[in-house]
Amino acid sequence: MIFFLLVLIGLAASGLGLEAVPKGFALGAKWQIQIQSPMKTSGDLIPSDALVWDIDLYSAAKNPDTISHIHSQVPGAIIMCYFNAGLVQNSDCDFDSVWSNSGLISTVHPDFPDERFIDVRKQKAVELIQKRISLANEIGCDAVDPDNIDTYVYDEDEDNATTFNLQRSDLVRFVKALAGFAHGLKTAQGNTMLIGQKNAPELTSDVSSVLDFAVLENCSGRNEPDTTTPFCNTFQAPYVGAGKPVSNIEYPPSIKTNGCSKVGDDDYKGTCGSLADKGGFSTVLKIKGGGSELDGCTQYCDGKRNLITGTSPDAAGQCPADALKFKRRVFGRRGRF
Ligand SMILES: *[C@@H]1O[C@H](CO)[C@@H](O)[C@H](O)[C@H]1NC(C)=O
Ligand SMILES: *[C@@H]1O[C@H](CO)[C@@H](O)[C@H](O)[C@H]1NC(C)=O
Repeated sequence: MIFFLLVLIGLAASGLGLEAVPKGFALGAKWQIQIQSPMKTSGDLIPSDALVWDIDLYSAAKNPDTISHIHSQVPGAIIMCYFNAGLVQNSDCDFDSVWSNSGLISTVHPDFPDERFIDVRKQKAVELIQKRISLANEIGCDAVDPDNIDTYVYDEDEDNATTFNLQRSDLVRFVKALAGFAHGLKTAQGNTMLIGQKNAPELTSDVSSVLDFAVLENCSGRNEPDTTTPFCNTFQAPYVGAGKPVSNIEYPPSIKTNGCSKVGDDDYKGTCGSLADKGGFSTVLKIKGGGSELDGCTQYCDGKRNLITGTSPDAAGQCPADALKFKRRVFGRRGRF
């Protein structure tokens, strides 16, 4: 009887979104995203006052000092680990060992020749992506930022481009399976492992209740008026309204001048002056294109100059052999049952 009561209490707690959230994880928390190169693991962290850091999962796994360096510079830092969830990339640590001959991936992405679509309808594929969340948990990430959670859009727009004829409902089920798994894990700081919604505004109504924050790109729609419809508004009620942080990236073209320049006035107004930086969003202005996307160059909506987070492109590191194997965990996927 007591067992069943505990199960019920556990279910109620997770259903109500009462996850144990890291201190300071709140609307408008200053953030930085740098997923292009390994981060520099010595010297002062730039910016020194960003509480939330979104870094590449495999880069951090290959360079174990990355996370401890951030923590040593920013006490209480909240680390989100980025990985591709809807596609696999040749460079992913688990590509050769688990994906390449799995029968779970298909054609290459029309724009990114080293990325292949995943058949997210398959339970085995879901489990392999859950393993990436386990890896994030093991190396000390507080949250995950799974990218490309709306691959069904390619099948809608480009007639079965993934070859899996994915439906919206397949992706909703996939995201829920990832969220349930993440929430069953405890972080090194004793909080619940958090998971965000990356873009995919069209999934919001079905997934926002099980996700903890959002990471958006171009939600102001400013840079691609023909192909991108502004979607900042979609995240207002379900995220900001629920006290869930929205970390937004805008790509104003003028930041690209000379590699990393202070953005021009029009670009600044068009991004920082738009909804993208209002109502609880936390916005960074970043470079897009030319192989430098989401590198260390950033400007904030504080009117100040651009700044550059230090990276060490040569510190490639080795994939962690162990970390990719399944481990039995106390708070595993079915830990509560
Ligand atoms: C999608 O493409 C695959 C591979 O070409 C094919 O086997 C499948 O029948 C297609 N599905 C639809 C609905 O077109
Ligand atoms: C954002 O804008 C950039 C620059 O125009 C474009 O390359 C990119 O594809 C856009 N991203 C999204 C997610 O719309």
